[in-house]
Amino acid sequence: MSDINIAEAKINLEKKGFLDLGIDPTMDVFAEIERLKKEKNAIVLAHYYQEPDIQDVADYIGDSLGLAQQAEKTQADIIVFAGVHFMAETAKILNPSKKVLLPDLKAGCSLADSAPADLFRKFKEKHPDHLVVSYINCTADIKALSDIICTSSNAEKIIESIPVDQPILFAPDKNLGAYLNKKTGRNMLLWNGACMVHEIFSLEKITKLKTRHPNAKLIAHPECEDPLLRMADYIGSTTQLLKYTQQDNGSEYIVATETGILHQMQKASPEKHFIPAPPDNSCACNDCPHMKLNTLEKLYLCMEYEAPEILMEEQLRLAAKKPIDRMLEISRAAGLIG
Ligand code: 13P
Ligand code: SF4
Repeated sequence: MSDINIAEAKINLEKKGFLDLGIDPTMDVFAEIERLKKEKNAIVLAHYYQEPDIQDVADYIGDSLGLAQQAEKTQADIIVFAGVHFMAETAKILNPSKKVLLPDLKAGCSLADSAPADLFRKFKEKHPDHLVVSYINCTADIKALSDIICTSSNAEKIIESIPVDQPILFAPDKNLGAYLNKKTGRNMLLWNGACMVHEIFSLEKITKLKTRHPNAKLIAHPECEDPLLRMADYIGSTTQLLKYTQQDNGSEYIVATETGILHQMQKASPEKHFIPAPPDNSCACNDCPHMKLNTLEKLYLCMEYEAPEILMEEQLRLAAKKPIDRMLEISRAAGLIG
């Protein structure tokens, strides 16, 4: 690669979101990523929604809670975050001395986008007596306006740790919030945000699938809407869904979350049959367009040239860290993490 090409790709980085450089098609990208991990003392953390090739080169694959914990405790010099922007941002908040790389800066999140900080601040000001619990799928600015962060793995325990007479404002996912209200008997005030991936499942197609596969269990992520959750045999975070399929004695599952998780489900239980729940469009399965912006090639390029990097102003980082620390404390006390 010539120095001129690299300089040009770095100039265009902000506009494109990634280093737009060609890669020698004969190159063994898997081997190169392994070499870079060793040479640079880098760790690759990947969310379950990443494409299978990325999951296969990752040092750790997990859900949002597991990834935050790994990011906090790693001794590596570089954290390569194969996930979306708010996840890489959380890694930087928790471990600021590390260089945090994201293969594509434009890997955002519809849920995080649904809560702009200026509007949220005004909403919060209208409810000064409310404690703010925010789902980790939000920007650092929203975290800085929150009292406690939660993920889908620990949300119930976080809500239960709050005195019952304390009013709560929950943001940004109204579906997870409504599910938690039902589970905990609270009446949290909900911000009107949602995940584009989990909202689009087709009840009609799922009902037809269940007729064709009468023994299949429907398992769903709590970001899905209430009518789907009411049909589900099991509801949980990505890690909980994966564990359920490993421990349950069923043999067939309709999986209502992003399709990336099927890779680990199939690897862990090769004898079982996993069917992605179909969305309400012409596709047969449901990919998150943000998560899937990352590719193996972009992952290699960001490691080789150490860009794009997540940077954050220290004052914002410290304000956003407080509610995440609170979440980790409560999760440890509840035995959810080590
Ligand atoms: P978990 O990682 O907590 O299961 O959340 C899923 C998700 O939508 C991440 O963007
Ligand atoms: Fe955001 Fe939904 Fe994609 Fe997760 S699956 S990153 S919540 S848009």
